[in-house]
Amino acid sequence: MSAAPALSLQEIILSGHVVSGHGRGQVLGFPTANISVAADAPTPPDGVYACLVTIEDEHQIYHATMSIGDNPTFDDVKERRFEAYIHDFDRDLYDFAIHVSFVALLREMVVFPSVDALKEQTMRDVERSRQILADYTQR
Ligand SMILES: Cc1cc2nc3c(=O)[nH]c(=O)nc-3n(C[C@H](O)[C@H](O)[C@H](O)COP(=O)(O)O)c2cc1C
Repeated sequence: MSAAPALSLQEIILSGHVVSGHGRGQVLGFPTANISVAADAPTPPDGVYACLVTIEDEHQIYHATMSIGDNPTFDDVKERRFEAYIHDFDRDLYDFAIHVSFVALLREMVVFPSVDALKEQTMRDVERSRQILADYTQR
């Protein structure tokens, strides 16, 4: 049997239920929805992405910045995480099904020397993501 053809970034839809993380996101100022993704689902490479998110059967589209990887700044994260920081949003999404589509790769995952350095870069990521998504959705 031949292998499935590779999907482009824009063709991947990530779906899964929101599960608990380590709870550090609140402290960092960027609380994320951790999505439980099926092991055999097609996923983009590790990195930080500008994304569009929908929640269960709601029709609204939310803008988000997504981190994929094992959070290498911290030693206690053993598996690949799919975390969405949804912009201007403060609902608790625990156990909700969410769907993510990818608009652009912002950068690769990085090991930061301090939590402050991670926080500063995350602020810049979200700023850039907001601009990319505003341009994208106004096209
Ligand atoms: C926009 C964004 C970029 C991120 N980039 C990195 C990164 O480069 N390196 C890293 O170790 N963690 C990165 N993270 C993940 C954070 O380490 C993680 O969200 C935080 O530790 C909270 O995790 P928790 O929900 O398990 O508590 C990023 C998170 C966001 C939202």
